[in-house]
Amino acid sequence: MEPTLKSELYDSLLRQLQALLEDESDFIANAANTAALVYHALPEVNWVGFYLCRGEQLVLGPFQGKPACRRIELGKGVCGTAAVRKTTIVVPDVRDFPGHIACDPDSRSEIVVPLVHQGCLLGVLDVDSASLARFDAIDQRGVEAIAACFLDHLTQNP
Ligand code: SME
Repeated sequence: MEPTLKSELYDSLLRQLQALLEDESDFIANAANTAALVYHALPEVNWVGFYLCRGEQLVLGPFQGKPACRRIELGKGVCGTAAVRKTTIVVPDVRDFPGHIACDPDSRSEIVVPLVHQGCLLGVLDVDSASLARFDAIDQRGVEAIAACFLDHLTQNP
């Protein structure tokens, strides 16, 4: 997709998300609607969802797409690594990421953004694609803005 169009898509997505989350602070309701909006708005994605911190593990949260792995150890896979590092990870080819956890063999690239709220790691937002190198710097900015908007609307932890 042409870069300007892609930026405009994320701008529009962010406005829709702000409207969708307005006046609602429930974690589950907002996480479920965020996953649904992003899944249906972004082209070429096959899974969008949350993994939430539960002790030393991440546990599957609200998502859209095929059923997925229920638990991921902190530090394992792309999700567990992004959680421990507290930085976004973009993986152009999941087969090149040591320890990648293949919930869906169709997934070929992914982006994982950590959710840090008031200094506390709540979990991660994971977006997967069946296309190689689906996510670039514009996607990273866009998905990070979506995660920030989601966190802005929280008044309670999961
Ligand atoms: N691929 C992820 C696991 C989650 S699923 O893709 C939905 C990972 O390596 O952490």
